[in-house]
This record gives sequence, C-alpha cells and structure tokens, in this order.
Amino acid sequence: MIIADTISQTRKAVAQARDECKTIGLVPTMGALHEGHFSIIRRCREECSFAVVSIFVNPTQFAPDEDLDKYPGNFEADCRACRDLGVDLIFAPTAAEIYPRENLTWINVEKITDHLCGTSRPDHFRGVCTIVAKLFNIIQPDIAWFGQKDAQQLAVIRRMVADLNMPVEVRSCPTVRETGGLAPSSRNNYLNPGQRSRGLCLNQALSRAREMVTDGTTDTNTIIEAMRLIIEKQPDAHIDYISIVDNDLLQPIAEIDRPVLIALAVRIGPARLIDNIIVEPPAKTL
Ligand code: PAF
Repeated sequence: MIIADTISQTRKAVAQARDECKTIGLVPTMGALHEGHFSIIRRCREECSFAVVSIFVNPTQFAPDEDLDKYPGNFEADCRACRDLGVDLIFAPTAAEIYPRENLTWINVEKITDHLCGTSRPDHFRGVCTIVAKLFNIIQPDIAWFGQKDAQQLAVIRRMVADLNMPVEVRSCPTVRETGGLAPSSRNNYLNPGQRSRGLCLNQALSRAREMVTDGTTDTNTIIEAMRLIIEKQPDAHIDYISIVDNDLLQPIAEIDRPVLIALAVRIGPARLIDNIIVEPPAKTL
C-alpha cells in the first residue's frame, strides 16, 4: 500500500495503475475510519482493481464555530485498517498541499443545499463540493463511493457531477448500524456511554416514521411531530432539524406521495448527529 501526501506522488501512482488498465476507485474520507467507512472501502475494493482512500480533514467545510480543531483522527489506525482491507493507495495531504494559496474558486450547488444541513451549515456544501472536485481532479477515479448516511452530501455530489459533466460514476453504500441502530460516525467519539445510548433516539424516531408511513400516514407534519416527541424525551438532545423532503431536490413536502427522504440532525451533548431513511409512499388499497 502506497501512502502519499503530495499531489504529484498520487498522480504518478494512479497514472501507473491506469497504464496497467486498472479501474480506479476512490473513497473520500476525513479519517477516524469506522465500520461505515470500512463497508464502503470493501465495496470499492470488490468493484475496482485500484482502491484509493483519501484522508483529509477539509477545513473549508467547517464553520469557524465548528469542531475542525478537535475533529477525531488516528492516522496510524486508519492506515492499518486500510492495509487490512486491501487498499492500494492512501492520499493524505496537508492543508497546505490542497490549499497552497487563498482559494478563490468554489463550487456551489444550489437548491439541494437550501434545507436540512444547509440551513444551519450555510457554507458547508460549498466546502464539500470544492474538495471533492479537487480530489476528482487529482485522482481522476472511474468510480467514487459515498455513504447514504450523508444523504444530502450524496445528492449534492451527484448533482455536481451531472451538472459539470465530471467523468466519474458516483455510487452509494447503505448506512451501517450498530446494535440498537446508532449509525457509526467519527463524531460518535465525542459521546460518553450515556450520550451514546441516548443517540439511539435518532434511529427510534426514524423507525417510528417508517411505521407510520407503512400504516398509511402521509401528512408529513404529523410524522415530524411524532418524531419530535421521541427525541425530546432525551434530556440533553437538541433538535437541529427533522425534515421530510422529496428524494431528488430535497425540498420539503406536505404529503408523502412519492419516495421521500426523512432526515434529522440532533445535538446530543457535544456531538451533532445526523441520520436518515428513504421511504416509499404507502401502498394504495383498492
Ligand atoms: O463525508 C466526508 O467525510 C467528507 O464530507 C468528504 C466527502 C470526505 C469531503 O471532505
């Protein structure tokens, strides 16, 4: 496994793989790798003959009051895990390598970024799209993988790739869940055991929403209210949003009459946790 921290080393290694007619797969990450990342890396490994994992805590996707300075990381453990998973190349640049000068060029995907995390993190997706576009330009993967857990990020990146005719196929992997339903996240590292168990309320609220839709409820306010009650039972849970949006442009809808994304962000103690499910409208009975 090659560990590269410069763009030129990375381009050279990828060019060689391409000369050998290998399919280049990329899994972009910010490190602190967990089971969610591992499942994505396994898919990449299975479907591509040259698997690249990027590890870069991208400063431009954090607002000044967010957790950039304390974002968890364990580079040695990440490298060991990638080696065990059969990764061919880790690209782990410094911020100076990626942003050598004041960055004046940004990618903004409109509309899809208006709601959900876009409301409380207004510049977040601009930073995500810009770094992902840079990684695509540096590595030029044939296929890039993202987790369904970051559903809005996935939708935004898919749209960026389509609108800008980027020559890469974006694939997604389903959300992995621990026992009890907590979705792994690097930010779960901030939680103590009590907060971790209170974090299960996100999945409980989503499961209740799914049940209600299956039972025929289509009014989104009713479902959101039921989810809110579940979250508010937890003493240190603060809701950022609970939203039901169409699964294309992520616009809020009043009635579930097409596939929808039910998504929420909740602050539990020091960590802001997000989760989501996609739900089909209830089957019509004749
Ligand atoms: O999902 C993440 O870890 C990040 O947002 C990404 C896609 C690696 C861009 O920094």
